[in-house]
Amino acid sequence: MRIFGIVLAAGQGKRMKSKLYKVLHPVCGKPMVGHVLDVLEAVRVDRKVVIVGHGAEAVQAYVGDRAEFALQAEQLGTGHAVSMARPMLESEDGITVVICGDTPLIRPDSLEAMIRMHVEQGAAATLMSASLEAPGGYGRVVRNAQGGVERIVEQKDCSPEEDAIREINAGTYCFDNRKLFAALAHVKNDNSQNEYYFTDVIGILRGQGEKVLAYCTNDPSEWIGVNDRIALSEAEAFMRQRINRAHMANGVTIVDPSATYIEKDVVIGADTVLLPGTALRGRTVVGEDCRIGPNCELTDTIVGSGVDIKQSVLSEAEVGDGSSVGPFAYLRPGAKLAGRVKIGDFVEIKNAFLDEGVKVSHLSYVGDAEIGKNVNVGCGAITVNFDGFNKHKTIIGDDAFIGSNVNLVAPVTVGKGAFVVAGSTITKDVADNDMAIARERQTNKAGYAEKLRGRFKAAKENKKSP
Ligand code: UD1
Ligand code: CA
Repeated sequence: MRIFGIVLAAGQGKRMKSKLYKVLHPVCGKPMVGHVLDVLEAVRVDRKVVIVGHGAEAVQAYVGDRAEFALQAEQLGTGHAVSMARPMLESEDGITVVICGDTPLIRPDSLEAMIRMHVEQGAAATLMSASLEAPGGYGRVVRNAQGGVERIVEQKDCSPEEDAIREINAGTYCFDNRKLFAALAHVKNDNSQNEYYFTDVIGILRGQGEKVLAYCTNDPSEWIGVNDRIALSEAEAFMRQRINRAHMANGVTIVDPSATYIEKDVVIGADTVLLPGTALRGRTVVGEDCRIGPNCELTDTIVGSGVDIKQSVLSEAEVGDGSSVGPFAYLRPGAKLAGRVKIGDFVEIKNAFLDEGVKVSHLSYVGDAEIGKNVNVGCGAITVNFDGFNKHKTIIGDDAFIGSNVNLVAPVTVGKGAFVVAGSTITKDVADNDMAIARERQTNKAGYAEKLRGRFKAAKENKKSP
């Protein structure tokens, strides 16, 4: 059986009071429409159609080739929105899932269970519902005397009796595709908002004697439709909890899950410990037996196993097995550490490869560089990579020693096993095993300190006596 998915994503989301289109607001780092597409992909739909309108270009740019698009130029309601997919899907045979772009917490297993129920019981339509203590704002599921689903009534059109109904429409449905488009033709806009409500297809199908079912979810988060920033924060909290629990179930220790922020596509190995204030974003991958935090932010960063990272910010970086980073280090795009590298406090690394066993322990900037195995970069040593116009490269061979406070003015190469004396400003290449010293020779003046103190004292006394 072929399955099709229609995602409603054309609304502006007025209640968000935002310049960003509603479905592009991120929940745990991923735009809501991205979460919804993940769900459709997890149940392996054959075709996905995203209905775009407000911010169509931005939504299309984000979704890219994950879906086909239908434009709803004017937002006349959810029913009108679904009908935009008519030319694309009308003549297909199969099941069509309709899902709102603002319900990021729908779970693939629930959708799958709903589709199974729909197929097994031969329904024309099945909707996802939930029973809420405070159902305000959602459409209500009206049932008949036998307990069957009869229709959906929107909050704004509810009679007092309907207003008291606790069972709400979660905004996710599946249909027999042909029956869906046939029923959709009968939807009118004679309601309090003069909108074509998609929800009316339920009553229309029932009126035609069709079988309509409700799949009731008991997950307290799943039904959240994000219409405003309050719901956005609730969705974020539920999603965060769901993600963190999945990692804990896989063997990751999260010391304080309420203060650990892991985006959805992050991968973490077993026996890794995350300390509070840690954010793992984008396509970050962390290996096993690591200790990360407190207060670390890793974005699109690959971390090996047995790595220790404290109080640091890493972005598009790679950290090899057994390395340690921080406290207070900054690894910028292109920073690549091989195994057992040590990066200490107040060190910044950008676009540089540091081979096995390199140590940059304190107060350094390493940019546009290649550093060989077991090199020690002393405190305060830096690569001078920018001449005001262009960036240049620094190369340091295996086992070299760079003294404290050295300036390596690029382009420059320091050979294998070479020794650069502290305080040197290196502008010429250093050959393998050479020692380089580039600083003013020191002169000591015997007893001169006593002389200086005498002068200072005299000057002070002159000032006092007028
Ligand atoms: C909708 C349902 C309601 C349900 C709730 C679940 C209708 C009429 N009501 O209400 O029963 O309880 O979702 O969250 O469907 N959209 C378009 N084009 C339009 C209008 C809306 O694409 O012309 C999109 C929006 O971008 C949004 C989705 O459809 O992603 C739902 O629209 P929204 O206005 O949020 O509907 P609700 O009032 O929440
Ligand atoms: Ca909504």
